[in-house]
Amino acid sequence: MTQPEPSPSSRGLFIALEGGDGAGKSTQGRLLCAWLEELGHAVVVTREPGGTAFGRTVRELVLHGDHVSPRAEALLFAADRAHHVETLIRPALQRGEVVITDRYLDSSIAYQGAGRDLGVDEVRELNVWATGGLVPKLTVLLDLPAEVGRIRRGGVHDRLESESDDFHRAVREHFLTLARADPDRYLVVDGQLRAEQIHELVRARVALLPLLSLLPRVAR
Ligand code: TYD
Repeated sequence: MTQPEPSPSSRGLFIALEGGDGAGKSTQGRLLCAWLEELGHAVVVTREPGGTAFGRTVRELVLHGDHVSPRAEALLFAADRAHHVETLIRPALQRGEVVITDRYLDSSIAYQGAGRDLGVDEVRELNVWATGGLVPKLTVLLDLPAEVGRIRRGGVHDRLESESDDFHRAVREHFLTLARADPDRYLVVDGQLRAEQIHELVRARVALLPLLSLLPRVAR
């Protein structure tokens, strides 16, 4: 019997950064990208919502619009993600590149499923459908107490950020629940460590990923 072809998305390396608002995901994305590029890999750094032109329109609607009903909110994040996966993430993985996304599916499970109380199973199902089941090889969770996140965010708030500390506590707890359920696919890091310390922990874990050594290098 012939072996099944590896699915296209199994070629590159897909890494997600997750965590509450103000946890320092974008800084870690930049540091990780610089290190991987230094090693010779082609890296795409992107984010949700808003990693594509379509997504930037959705981002405006969902984060800065007036009232958005909870189910509409969940669908908008899922629509952004569906388009992001199909037009940006999968093609990059097919080329054998590293994709680092600042937020992915777990954000919907934690914010809409647990925070908004829409049901984590329903929100997961919606997003598995939206993404065709694409799962990161590694998810780095930058864990931060809700109160610390609020202080770090400062005065400017989008619709989700302006939710109560109780909402953000439920989000944090659910991120941790997801990570505990699948320790092989998660790295949980204390978001209160210095950025350089966090980066060292992330680097150590990414270096262990078997796929990393198999990825094509960019000719220099
Ligand atoms: P983000 O761009 O990460 O904001 P920041 O850079 O300020 O952390 O995310 C914007 C907000 O969208 C954030 O409050 C989390 C929320 N969000 C969801 O509620 N569900 C989702 O699926 C995603 C991707 C984000």
